[in-house]
Amino acid sequence: MTNTDWSRILAYLPPNATESIVSSQFVEPLLDALGFNDLERHPQFKTGDGAKSVDFAARENSDGDIFLSSPNNPYLLVEVKGRAIASGATINLAEDTPHYKKTKHQIQQYLLAPKCKTAQWGIITNANHIQLFRRHEKVVVPATPNLLIKESNINNIISGIKTLLEKPPKALTVCIYNNKGGVGKTTTTINLAATFAKLGKKVLVVDFDPQQKDLTNSLGLQEGIVTLSNCLINPTLSVRKAIQPFQVQYKCGNKVKFDVIPSDSNLDALSHITTSIQKRAARLRDLLKPLVNDYDYILIDCPANWMFFSQSSVYSADVILIPTKHNSLTSLENAAKVIKHFIPQVKNQRGDGGPVALPIFFNGEKITDPQIEAVNTAIYKLIITIKRTKNFDLLPYYWPKYCTGDKNQTIFSIPGYAIVSNSVFYRVPAALKDITAYKYYHKLIEEYFCHG
Ligand SMILES: Nc1ncnc2c1ncn2[C@@H]1O[C@H](COP(=O)(O)OP(=O)(O)OP(=O)(O)O)[C@@H](O)[C@H]1O
Ligand SMILES: [Mg+2]
Repeated sequence: MTNTDWSRILAYLPPNATESIVSSQFVEPLLDALGFNDLERHPQFKTGDGAKSVDFAARENSDGDIFLSSPNNPYLLVEVKGRAIASGATINLAEDTPHYKKTKHQIQQYLLAPKCKTAQWGIITNANHIQLFRRHEKVVVPATPNLLIKESNINNIISGIKTLLEKPPKALTVCIYNNKGGVGKTTTTINLAATFAKLGKKVLVVDFDPQQKDLTNSLGLQEGIVTLSNCLINPTLSVRKAIQPFQVQYKCGNKVKFDVIPSDSNLDALSHITTSIQKRAARLRDLLKPLVNDYDYILIDCPANWMFFSQSSVYSADVILIPTKHNSLTSLENAAKVIKHFIPQVKNQRGDGGPVALPIFFNGEKITDPQIEAVNTAIYKLIITIKRTKNFDLLPYYWPKYCTGDKNQTIFSIPGYAIVSNSVFYRVPAALKDITAYKYYHKLIEEYFCHG
């Protein structure tokens, strides 16, 4: 940490400081403190998305490669706003304000822009608030909450961000969850894992559904000598011992493999023995922490209904992927409950900005045009009701492509496909048995996670 006098910097910043004053008096010293000297940062970095520039980009220099003179391959982006907070202010990044939402959207777009493909982090700040975001391929997630800057916490905020920047986690942890049963959580988890693995990604799957163990059973796995419940109870046991390999070998000799932490027979009892599971819902997340640098994706399958196992799984995740069915209003209402109620509840407990919901998708049915019309009417009603009664905007989670200029109501859909449901009898994920199934899940990956 540098010896920057943050008390002085904050005291000298006018309450209505413009963007350029915030940039020179706050963001420049901030970048210094984060370890980027003035040759390692570039103002008005062209993102490659039309003429759009982000206020700062930064990365470490290497021998003869000076970022300021050859600004390419940025590591960190910073979007700066003016500081005005007094009445009549136009810029205020407080949580849930329109400016906050707009600025958050802006940094997300910049992080996904063509010349920012190497950027792993984005900061938004106006010297009143600051928030760090992390990019994992196509997914941008908060890496801190939107923090209110005070003289008393600024040093901690900066050292926290610096620590994250120095050790970015490799994996994106995804929990596949809907509070409604039978919507395809397990099927999606297995086939996503298989498709990611076929694309060359390193994948770990966790079966945290102890009653059904569908995922473990459908891959033909047995519980090992060291089980997930052993590791949850005994903090001295390494979770790596509970990992089992799953592999499919094709006739041509090619192999596709991923790792699995199977469910086990003692797992179910754990939700009742609260004293032996330290920190309750946080325990699974702590257990998986050492693995976040070993994998590209960690996928967690869990039961429906909001209980210890689903709470722990959502608590462990960066993002929640929510399967629904277009012909089940309950699945759509339960998805709303997850987005509006359960995820914010977990977000509050975690205090690090996550997890966040990805837009819902339809799973496993053939959809006709009249059905689309009917489900869109139901979704419209749901969005309006939740907005009116709870002041919560479901639109980005149900119709993510909808905007003022384009009233697009598309929801991504995985078709119903017999081979997907039958594959359980072969102990091989459908995506590894059948090219059409593979293509369906490949599309899901391209829609939500990465360009495979
Ligand atoms: N795309 C699909 N095409 C055909 N069948 C599917 C598809 N997705 C899921 N299914 C079938 O639907 C049924 C329910 O799926 P699955 O077990 O994955 O749901 P779940 O949400 O995990 O259920 P639970 O809440 O019981 O854990 C299974 O029989 C599965 O094979
Ligand atoms: Mg299941």
